[in-house]
Amino acid sequence: MSKKRILILSYSHSNQTRNLLKQLVAGLEKSDIDIFWERLAPEQELRFPIGTIPLTLLMMTQTFLKKRYPVKQLNSKVFDKWDLVIVAGPTWSYSPSGVILSMLDRDGEALIAGQDVLPFISCRGYWRVHFWRLRTLLKKIGARNVCDPIVFKHPTPEPWNTIGVFLKLAGQMPERGKGWFRKYYPKYGHSREQMETAVEVGQKLGEYIIDGLQAEEIHFTTPV
Ligand SMILES: Cc1cc2nc3c(=O)[nH]c(=O)nc-3n(C[C@H](O)[C@H](O)[C@H](O)COP(=O)(O)O)c2cc1C
Repeated sequence: MSKKRILILSYSHSNQTRNLLKQLVAGLEKSDIDIFWERLAPEQELRFPIGTIPLTLLMMTQTFLKKRYPVKQLNSKVFDKWDLVIVAGPTWSYSPSGVILSMLDRDGEALIAGQDVLPFISCRGYWRVHFWRLRTLLKKIGARNVCDPIVFKHPTPEPWNTIGVFLKLAGQMPERGKGWFRKYYPKYGHSREQMETAVEVGQKLGEYIIDGLQAEEIHFTTPV
């Protein structure tokens, strides 16, 4: 019997999705599966941190309006047939990032039509509208099945989480300051425990794929 094959298409602006995916892949690799990981590169590099409060507000407004960020050409291998395609990236203003949207605009049909797709989301805290929009897009371009998503939310409690992410994007390094805020916002992004969870999720996903589970049977408890 031929080996099962998984494609990962990902974008990561501040390495959160990327770090989680590294762990997911480590878990997946415990099963005998071929994995091809394509990291999307915007034609113009997007700075992280964005750097200033006005530029951060501008990017949030543009992403709210679903601005596209064109991506470089993909490796031709991604257009093969896969047992599962993982589309991974951050939430940007209630949507998939403009990098993923741009990739789907250009290559979506060739990549996705007839395939089973698993969305993988890294976000500060709110992912549902992102998932609904992504699922709608994927179905429109012919996805055979869109699984329930795997979601990782930043674990810091609110309101510090929202304020901290905004300050981080604006280049303020809130987790490194000397003031009181640091006590409530010790770290940007995902925790070490979540990285360990990502390995377990990857291992479970690998077992599901090897066992021949259909996409509609694959469910992970979300958010994690
Ligand atoms: C322009 C922009 C808009 C964002 N909007 C949201 C949002 O609507 N909801 C949310 O939970 N997180 C939002 N975030 C936070 C990211 O989703 C979060 O930091 C994620 O972990 C980043 O993953 P990455 O490093 O892989 O890009 C936004 C980040 C940026 C840069």
